[in-house]
Amino acid sequence: MNLSIVGSGYVGTTIAACFADLGHDVTAIDIDETVVSKLNDGVAPIHEPGLADLVKTHAGTSLRATTDYSAVRETDVTFLALTTPSNPDGSIDLSIMKAGTRSLGDALADKDDYHLVVVKSTVTPGTTGDVIRPLLEEASGKVAGEDFGVAMNPEFLREGSAVTDFLNPDKLVFGAEAARDYDLLEALYQPLIDRTDAPVVKTGLREAEMIKYANNAFLAAKISLINELGNICKAYDVDAYEVADAIGLDERIGPHFLRSGVGWGGSCFPKDVAALIAAARDTGYEPQLLQAAVDVNDRQPGRMLSLLDDHVDVSGKRVAVLGLAFKPGTDDIRESRAIPTIEGLLDRGATVVAYDPVATDNMRARFPDIEYASSAAAALAGAHGALVVTDWDEFAALDLEFDAMETPVVIDGRRIVSTREGITYEGLTW
Ligand code: UGA
Repeated sequence: MNLSIVGSGYVGTTIAACFADLGHDVTAIDIDETVVSKLNDGVAPIHEPGLADLVKTHAGTSLRATTDYSAVRETDVTFLALTTPSNPDGSIDLSIMKAGTRSLGDALADKDDYHLVVVKSTVTPGTTGDVIRPLLEEASGKVAGEDFGVAMNPEFLREGSAVTDFLNPDKLVFGAEAARDYDLLEALYQPLIDRTDAPVVKTGLREAEMIKYANNAFLAAKISLINELGNICKAYDVDAYEVADAIGLDERIGPHFLRSGVGWGGSCFPKDVAALIAAARDTGYEPQLLQAAVDVNDRQPGRMLSLLDDHVDVSGKRVAVLGLAFKPGTDDIRESRAIPTIEGLLDRGATVVAYDPVATDNMRARFPDIEYASSAAAALAGAHGALVVTDWDEFAALDLEFDAMETPVVIDGRRIVSTREGITYEGLTW
């Protein structure tokens, strides 16, 4: 099939390369000329394992990019994969989505054949049907349900494994309104369905929109619940990881996302939970449990800092922060728990020395005045305390490096460091 994808960010580029790999003819559309020429040169504009190879393989043949929306007329289906940033109240800002939708509608005005527009971006219930569809009708002068259809197909890709996640989905969610739109989506994903046996959920537009939020809200709340249980465990000298391993054997609970510690960050969980809370409030419903999940998450870095306070007065002292990325395998620091951790240390008058294998440059833009070490060993040397924020594998191998600390107090927010004699070691929830 011929398809176009509007937006070449993390989601748009990943799905463009993956659909090309499934045998489709893909045109990526983006207003950024640098991104477009990179893609046409066979270079992935973002870093995601496996993506560079796919872009290199398919660029110039089944994958091309352009800034010109009229290219959609040569395609049967267009995905909208534009960013939906947060407003100050947590709700999503649809201005970029609306601008892209208008340009798409303008281009579709001159297309004769039926076209399917699929919303891939994360949008709150009602957006596809009540905002995108009328905008498309207005800009194209065409009639939804006759000349074109709208669908919603959420993504469940994780940063750092987006290509693998796309090619091995645990489900495909097709939100649509007409049989021919479900059929088009099915035809598009057929190579993947044949290969993986992934279950297909056919549902309405609003349900598809909500499934994405419910998925992320459930996972974020699951982590906050295990963190709250972990905080209670710590108070009773109980190992929360042994407890989590045992309850994870109950298949109703499951073993995943039960790693307690300093909490969740990234570009998705915080933003999506906030948007769902704002959407709920908009209807007059107060989502207490989701708000509690956020509150528990917000408090974990402070708990880590107060464990350090129990051992050292850090004022005027050098303290190491190990790990700046919101999770291992990425240089992304958005909503990283390292940010409130560093702020808390600076509030206490500590001299912060931070280390991360890949995220240092990004954090330097956020905190230009703290010290950045080139290795964990260099960060630990002379430190009066160390806070472990990201579970990078290399931190598991740290050992003699702790001996170079002035006071070897290690507060582990991720259960990654191996403790031993000679270190004052505190797990956040164990
Ligand atoms: C998340 C979801 O997992 C994806 O399914 C979804 O598609 C994506 O958001 C999105 O909406 O685009 P991602 O943000 O890449 O993916 O990261 P995760 O691997 O889910 O981790 C999120 C945070 O939870 C990290 O800070 C991680 O350290 C934390 N976490 C995860 C825990 O604290 N404990 C755990 O047991 C698992």
